[in-house]
Amino acid sequence: MSSQDEAHSDKRLQHSMHGQFDDHSYEQWRALIEQRTGLQLADHLRSYLQGGLNRRMKLLNIDDYESYLEYVTDERNGFKEWSELVDTLTVQETQFFRHPDSFTYLESYIDELICQNDRARSIEIWSVGCSSGEESYSLAMLADKSLSAVDRIGYGVIGTDISLSAISSAKAGNYKARKAEWIPETYQDSYDKLDNKIKIKQSIADRVCFARVNILDLDRVPIRDMDIIFCQNLLIYLRKWRRKEVVNRLAERLKIGGVLVLGLGEVTDWSHPKLRQVDSRNVLAFERFKA
Ligand SMILES: C[S@@+](CC[C@H](N)C(=O)[O-])C[C@H]1O[C@@H](n2cnc3c(N)ncnc32)[C@H](O)[C@@H]1O
Repeated sequence: MSSQDEAHSDKRLQHSMHGQFDDHSYEQWRALIEQRTGLQLADHLRSYLQGGLNRRMKLLNIDDYESYLEYVTDERNGFKEWSELVDTLTVQETQFFRHPDSFTYLESYIDELICQNDRARSIEIWSVGCSSGEESYSLAMLADKSLSAVDRIGYGVIGTDISLSAISSAKAGNYKARKAEWIPETYQDSYDKLDNKIKIKQSIADRVCFARVNILDLDRVPIRDMDIIFCQNLLIYLRKWRRKEVVNRLAERLKIGGVLVLGLGEVTDWSHPKLRQVDSRNVLAFERFKA
């Protein structure tokens, strides 16, 4: 068989299994995903998208992309399948204390808050695009340690993500033991070791809650007056104009004096009238003016 024949037969096989993923189908799916999640699927991810759709369609015994599109966009029944598809297509890679410099910066920020506040209060932290929870628990471990000798100040962390399966793993608070390699030694008392797993200590887990939130729907989300908003490795999947829209909305959710911590280089050429950029080469953070 010539390579041309082979390519033709591959195409026929794909066609018979899942209809044809032609340019029209591809554009329809790409537009729907971007409109609903903000995720920009570059052309080189076409086969990644197709693979994700194929996996879901196989499970549902649906043969063509058009019928699956109708199924997913059905107003009454599509939501559950849409969630499954989002789980398949989102990159959920994460680690505890993933960007150590950001955590070092927050440690000194919390120390400053302690010095400036002599009254009882709670430090409110939001981990946006928290995946399976490692980032949210890292923030909780940091706050817990920093505030351990300060009775008058408490803290709370909320982790949000679009993926329901990520949120449910986050709530469980169990991780493979090798994940603990990323947790600095000073926080070793923040988790229990169980065979080949670790479990976040109850006293820390009690301070952390999780919810499904799509960052494109921030207008409808009643989370505000945050001291710390932490959003890393999510904006990179969005178009540049949309990143700015999202950070504008996040900025409005900060308390006076609060900080927005992003991933290095994730937003460029952005400023906000109520925020000043923290002077650092190692972190990308913006503080809300005190007055
Ligand atoms: C690569 S992970 C980053 C996790 C963590 N922030 C970190 O830096 O390790 C990106 C996360 O963003 C979530 N995500 C993608 N699109 C989203 C959206 N529109 N709204 C909320 N979360 C989203 C994904 O489900 C995924 O868990």
